[in-house]
This record gives sequence, C-alpha cells and structure tokens, in this order.
Amino acid sequence: MMHIGIAADHGGFELKRQLIEALETAGYEVTDFGAHDRVAGDDYPDWVVPLARAVARGEIVRGLAICGSGVGACVAANKVAGVRAALITDGFSAHQGVEDDDMNVMCLGGRVTGQALAWDLVRTFLSARFKGDERFRRRLAKVAALEREKRSE
Ligand code: RB5
Repeated sequence: MMHIGIAADHGGFELKRQLIEALETAGYEVTDFGAHDRVAGDDYPDWVVPLARAVARGEIVRGLAICGSGVGACVAANKVAGVRAALITDGFSAHQGVEDDDMNVMCLGGRVTGQALAWDLVRTFLSARFKGDERFRRRLAKVAALEREKRSE
C-alpha cells in the first residue's frame, strides 16, 4: 500500500480528520503532518511545507494538502522543488493531473469540497499512475529546468 502524507490548517482540519479515517480504513499508511489540533488562525505553510518536503525527498509517495479553499496550500506546496501540486475539484483532473503531469500533491478546499466528493477525488488521485509518454516527460523536464534555474538565481 502506498505511503500517504496529509496536512491541513484550521480551514481543512475537519476534512483531514475524515480523510485520515477513510484512508486508514482502506488500508493506506498515513502520516499526519498536522495540524494536530484545530487552532483557529493557524498558518497553512507550517503544515503543508513539511509534507511537501517529505514528498520531494521521496519519503511520502503522494501528499494531500488542505486549507479552507485549497489555494494557499497549493501555492505553498508548489514552492518546494520536486513537488507538483494542484487544487482539484473534479474527477477528470484528479486522474489526468497524475497521468499527464505527474501530480504528487493534491490540494483540496475544506470549505469547498464536501467529504464524499473529497474521498472520491482522493481515491481517483491515488489510483492514477503517470503515463510517462515522451511529450509528458519533455514538459516536466522544462518545469524541472525552471526549478534548477531558480536555485541558481
Ligand atoms: C484560512 O482562513 C484560509 O485563508 C486558509 O485556510 C486557506 O483557504 C487559504 O488559501
């Protein structure tokens, strides 16, 4: 079973709790990067960045990052080189984002996407595999080159 990491601020706290329960019931190994208590006004980078770094280091195969809208979580996760995060609200993007773009962190809005749809999107994301076609690799190589450029700025 795939090793999954999950992180959320106060806006995604309840959805994170529900998804952990569903993931563990389904047999996934889940690492919870926090928040471990619901603290109103906590900051999504404090939880999402450690998750993103673990994905980038290969310790976690796929990550789930949640805030109120999913936007802040996505912005923060994508600052970590090697992370390909996207805010997902529909089933097509949940699998196509992996198949074509090798998305490794899926972001959700805890105040936007309800529990049933979120769980459906998570299952779709986790079942999808990168197709690896030449054109997909070529595009991702251009993204990786940007990350290297940024490091040497
Ligand atoms: C918190 O109120 C909210 O700003 C945060 O959870 C997230 O939605 C940011 O994008």
